[in-house]
Amino acid sequence: MNQAEKAAAKAKALEFDHIASEVFAPIYPVIAARLLELGGIYRGRCVEIGSGGGHLALAAAGLFTGEIILLDSNPYALELAEERIAGKDRGRVSTLCADVHDMPIPAGSVDLVISRGAMWFWDKQRSLAEIWRILAPAGVAIIGGGYGSPAMRAEIYRVMSERNGDDFEARQKKNTDDNSPEDYAPVAMAMGIGDVREVHDDTGDWLVLGPK
Ligand SMILES: C[S@@+](CC[C@H](N)C(=O)[O-])C[C@H]1O[C@@H](n2cnc3c(N)ncnc32)[C@H](O)[C@@H]1O
Repeated sequence: MNQAEKAAAKAKALEFDHIASEVFAPIYPVIAARLLELGGIYRGRCVEIGSGGGHLALAAAGLFTGEIILLDSNPYALELAEERIAGKDRGRVSTLCADVHDMPIPAGSVDLVISRGAMWFWDKQRSLAEIWRILAPAGVAIIGGGYGSPAMRAEIYRVMSERNGDDFEARQKKNTDDNSPEDYAPVAMAMGIGDVREVHDDTGDWLVLGPK
């Protein structure tokens, strides 16, 4: 990254981190519990892809007893995550600066992949191939997005529209267009990924892959 790119990445990480801490905060425990329930996996190795400052993974850490890796391509988001990892979790929660399309993680070594609010930025085929590669034989990946409940979603849309002076729901729809779980599902099936399931519930919209 050159100086201008570094400054932009830092600003982006800080901006999202403020939103996550000030506006989205209540959604993380609800979504973490739901993703772990969908995966049915509470031990082993978990990777959150596109972790940002780690709000979701750290909420999951209260329920998941194994190792947790916060993976993000923005090093400044991971600096914020490092500050947030509490003393008691230091031994088992770590950060990894990497791109979902080329993760330095051994094949078949991850029991649970979770991801919220990040798949909109990825190449479908390349990201799915990498996620499928790192999953252990009985591993499960859950990727998607959501705001935890209809009430939390309505409040977030209200606050974010007020903050930005626009229609947040319309902006989100535009940003996520063609990159939602329902757009990933046929790509995953065409790639021969064994078990592909869509879940649309009050917590959000999720694509569940696996077990293999
Ligand atoms: C909207 S934030 C969501 C953060 C967090 N999951 C949450 O829900 O609070 C999306 C994150 O995905 C990361 N990201 C985007 N593209 C990525 C990629 N190709 N590989 C890894 N991380 C990526 C961004 O850097 C950003 O931190």
